[in-house]
Amino acid sequence: MMHLTQIKIISTGKYVPKKILTNGDLEKMVETSNEWIVSRTGIKERRIAEKESATDMAYFAALDALGQSKLNKNDIDLIIVASITGEQMTPSVANHVQKMLNIKHCMSFDVNAACTGYVYALEVAASLIQSGSYKHALVIGSEKLSNVLDYTDRNTCILFGDGAGATIIQKSENHQAYFYNQSKGDETDALTVKKYIKMDGRKVFLFAVDVMKKSIVKILDDAQLTIDDIDVIIPHQANLRIIQSVAKSLQIDLDKFEINLQNYGNTSAASIPIALDEYAKKNKQAKNVLLVGFGGGFTWGSAILQIN
Ligand code: ACO
Repeated sequence: MMHLTQIKIISTGKYVPKKILTNGDLEKMVETSNEWIVSRTGIKERRIAEKESATDMAYFAALDALGQSKLNKNDIDLIIVASITGEQMTPSVANHVQKMLNIKHCMSFDVNAACTGYVYALEVAASLIQSGSYKHALVIGSEKLSNVLDYTDRNTCILFGDGAGATIIQKSENHQAYFYNQSKGDETDALTVKKYIKMDGRKVFLFAVDVMKKSIVKILDDAQLTIDDIDVIIPHQANLRIIQSVAKSLQIDLDKFEINLQNYGNTSAASIPIALDEYAKKNKQAKNVLLVGFGGGFTWGSAILQIN
């Protein structure tokens, strides 16, 4: 079913830790090579949070997004954080961010939909704003995946990194935002995190290419737009070959995709908002953006909305 709301993104922010873990560093930790990692994934380096928690990174990204907006922090009445790596079961990362920002009146909670978490959180926030109960939502994706990586498992440790991205959305009668989010429960073993991330990489790869294609086609169809109406596609940054395969089969120019996975690896729920922020800071004019993600669950989803 199509989900249409009248909201727009008014600002974005991000935080990435300073410490860089290169493919060369990983060569010293597991049996791998820079050549293998670059050719199979496109990833060259990733950031590792040495001191920062997922909550700290969410807070720093939120400060950036607030600083980019004309809002006062007390204008925020809804905080949703997408994360699978919060420090505690409860309070949520969002509750902690609310406390750190010292916002008194606000609803705050977390969403867990693995790497699709941010697109899910954005749809939930848009719906709550559409209902008229909330005015300004801070939607954040923040992950400290280094906490759940087994650095002796070359199948997974080379893929992921840490970081956070944040977005502020508000109601706007003149803007239409479309969402399509889905999940299925028959592949719950393909990608799991108990102590560490465990993944059937080939299965995830095939699934990802399939649902990314379908999600792009579906959201364009819902919005009655063509790819030419879209300024940029912000895909989940998991693997360059997944994005190339989607671009090729839908005959979309690869330049239309914002790609930063070479610098950060896969930051799960943070990957789309970090890429969105980097795109928004390079392109100040109003833009039509298409977001598309997939993740453990399996979950997947897409959105078309306007930024600035
Ligand atoms: N260095 C060197 N060799 C390696 C490494 C490594 N880091 N990792 C695996 N290999 C080996 C394997 O052991 C295998 O050897 P074998 O043939 O002797 O068994 C060989 O390389 C090929 O392995 P494949 O799994 O076939 O490699 P593939 O080309 O499929 O690439 C990869 C693996 C990168 C994991 C790919 O499948 C992928 O990107 N999958 C999607 C992963 C993904 O997107 N995950 C995120 C989901 S989002 C979320 O919710 C967290």
